[in-house]
Amino acid sequence: QKILVLNGPNLNLLGTREPGVYGTKSLADIEADLRARFDGRAAIDFRQTNREGQLVDWIQEAGLSDVPVALNAGAYTHTSIAIRDAIAGAKAIVVEVHLSNIHAREDFRHRSFIAGVCRGVVAGFGPLSYALAVEALLVD
Ligand code: DQA
Repeated sequence: QKILVLNGPNLNLLGTREPGVYGTKSLADIEADLRARFDGRAAIDFRQTNREGQLVDWIQEAGLSDVPVALNAGAYTHTSIAIRDAIAGAKAIVVEVHLSNIHAREDFRHRSFIAGVCRGVVAGFGPLSYALAVEALLVD
């Protein structure tokens, strides 16, 4: 089973970016842990971009090829109608992922534009959030 894991803006800086909030693992560490955990169970295609339109393109691609998506859209979660529309329009199956518990943080992080078109949301478990999202997509 192929699974697409998409990461949005600033997640390339994980490890050094606000480690008190996001932990000390790099995005490459998170990718390696996921690959090890799902070895033999899922073919993980792991990507990161700082560009909103690139996320839209990848979500459209996932919808067309029927590949489920674990998506950490970073700050675009709280701003992007374009990403919401891509998920809804492409009929992509998406689980929203966050390392941090966005509901325990600033008010502006409490609203997600994409949650309403996602299958579910996993937030607050650090790198484990990604693994829980992939588990959910495999059951699905
Ligand atoms: C994040 C939470 C967002 O609010 C923030 O903008 C991020 C990371 C998380 O994984 O906790 O960039 O998506």
